[in-house]
Amino acid sequence: MKPEPAKLTVKIITLFPEMFPGHLGLSLSGKALEKRIWSLETVNPRYYTTDVHKTVDDSPFGGGAGMVMKPDILDRSLQAHLPLGRFIYMTPRGKPLTQAKAIELSQEPLLTILCGRYEGVDERLLEAYQAEEISIGDYVLSGGEQAAMILLDTVIRLLPDVIGNAGTHDEESFGNGLLEYPHYTRPAEWTGPDGILRKVPEILSSGHHAKVKDWRLEQSKAVTKERRPDLWSAYVVQNPENSKKTK
Ligand code: ADE
Repeated sequence: MKPEPAKLTVKIITLFPEMFPGHLGLSLSGKALEKRIWSLETVNPRYYTTDVHKTVDDSPFGGGAGMVMKPDILDRSLQAHLPLGRFIYMTPRGKPLTQAKAIELSQEPLLTILCGRYEGVDERLLEAYQAEEISIGDYVLSGGEQAAMILLDTVIRLLPDVIGNAGTHDEESFGNGLLEYPHYTRPAEWTGPDGILRKVPEILSSGHHAKVKDWRLEQSKAVTKERRPDLWSAYVVQNPENSKKTK
C-alpha cells in the first residue's frame, strides 16, 4: 500500500539546511512530521552554483554594505524543485504575519519558503516569481530561517489532527480579534516569592458556565484594551456596542 501523501508539503530554500527541522522536529509539529501530516524538503542554492567558489551572493549594484543573493542561482534552485505552490519570501520588508495569514496558509497543500541571508535577495527574482513577502515582526534577524520556522509553527498547529481538540483554536488569542483571557490551575491558593497569597478568581470555581464565559470575555477585552490599542480599535469597529465609555 502506498503511504498517504502529506497534507502539507514544505520546501525550504536555505543556505543552512542543517537548521531544519530545528524546533519543528519536536513537540506537536515534530509528532505531526512523524505522522506525515506535513513533510519537509530543504534545497541548498549552493548546490546549484557553477563556479569553483560556489558563489551564491555578490555585492549590491549602487554600492553599500553587505551582499545580495544572486537571482540566477536561486532561479536554478527553484526550477529544479517545481512545483512551488505558494511561494513565500521571509523578510522584514514583508507584510506582517497574522493569525489570519496562518489560517489562510494552513489550507494550502504546498508552500515554498525562501530564506534570505546577508542583505537579502535580488529584487528581480522576487518579482519574477511573484513572491509573497512576509515579516514576523519589526526587528531584524540574521536570516530568514528562524522566521520561516515561526511561520511554519503557526501553520502546522492549525493542520487537522495536530492539536487534539479542534475547538482549542476558537478561544486562543486573536481567534475573536482579542488577546486571550488569563488561565489558572490548582492549587486554588498559592503564595508566591513575594509572600502574597493569591487565590484563583472565585467565578472560575462556581460551575456557572455562562458567567465564566462572560468573565473571560471581559478579561480579554480589558487586556486587549490595555496592551494592544490597535487590536482594540479594530475590535470596536467590528463590535460597536463596546465603543461606549465604561464606568
Ligand atoms: N529576516 C530577517 N528578519 C526578518 C523578519 N523580521 N521577518 C521575516 N524575515 C526576516
